[in-house]
Amino acid sequence: MREKQLNSSHAIPVLGLGTWKLRPAEAGAAVAYALAQAGYRHVDCASIYENQAEIGAALEGLWGQAVKREQVFITSKLWNTDYRPERVERACRQTLAELRLEYLDLYLMHWGIAFKPGREGITDAVSIRETWTALEELAQKGLAKSIGVANFTTMMLVDLLTYAKIKPAVNQIELHPYNAQAELVAWCQDEGIAVTAYSPLGSWRMARKQGPKLLDDPIIKAIAEKHKKTAAQICLNWAIDRGTIAIPKSANPERIRENIDVFDFELTDEDRGAINSLNRNYRLVNPIGWWGIPYFG
Ligand code: A2P
Repeated sequence: MREKQLNSSHAIPVLGLGTWKLRPAEAGAAVAYALAQAGYRHVDCASIYENQAEIGAALEGLWGQAVKREQVFITSKLWNTDYRPERVERACRQTLAELRLEYLDLYLMHWGIAFKPGREGITDAVSIRETWTALEELAQKGLAKSIGVANFTTMMLVDLLTYAKIKPAVNQIELHPYNAQAELVAWCQDEGIAVTAYSPLGSWRMARKQGPKLLDDPIIKAIAEKHKKTAAQICLNWAIDRGTIAIPKSANPERIRENIDVFDFELTDEDRGAINSLNRNYRLVNPIGWWGIPYFG
């Protein structure tokens, strides 16, 4: 599996299994299949996905059998209701207990916004700086080998970089051809912050209900046909080709295999131009609908 060097000196496999929306009953099997059968070496988790205990049970069964712990890169994320500094270590240890791990490879602040403990959507008087400093302590204690952020905008990062003793290794954001965020990706990469693409397939199920469907896009489909690959494989190859890390979610063994079979072809400059022209700033994940907070303006 191809890896990308992080600014923390650790390396991250450029493709991982996403676990958002994996139901608890299917999460363990999906992770076990990905690692033991399909060759994945990277799993992206979060406490808010409410499936970490099932994933942890599956992981425990794999260690020393299909894979060794040190061969797998595991990410988790601190939820917004645990941003008060005194809650951070406890939340991290809870995640470690659920995943049955001694350390995380990467621990992210899930959003750049703090909520009151237990009160989803109610903002708390906690600055990003306070939470980031607590995350730095976790890294120093070895609970997380690398630390980073998710859903951070440029200005959140510009500010964070003024005080960070440990620079974020990663910013994980929504990226796919319909929401390419080329300037933010380039800026992070110039700063030495690796960028992970979540919903790299345009959250197929979510988008199916309404709005444009990325995997049905005629341009993506034509490129797929030319390379004898699927539309999903084109989107994932494009994500890796532009230097980002992709974490497609799937519960289905066939699609789990399909999504890692993306390293045997190269897009042409013409393909890249055509895919880059598809951007329409089409965001699927926008918390204005959940929290009533215009997070992205
Ligand atoms: P499923 O779990 O049934 O495979 P994203 O990671 O962009 O959010 O996309 C995940 C969504 O896309 C899930 O609904 C997943 O459903 C579906 N999906 C995952 N891989 C593929 C694929 N190769 N082709 C089509 N749909 C896919």
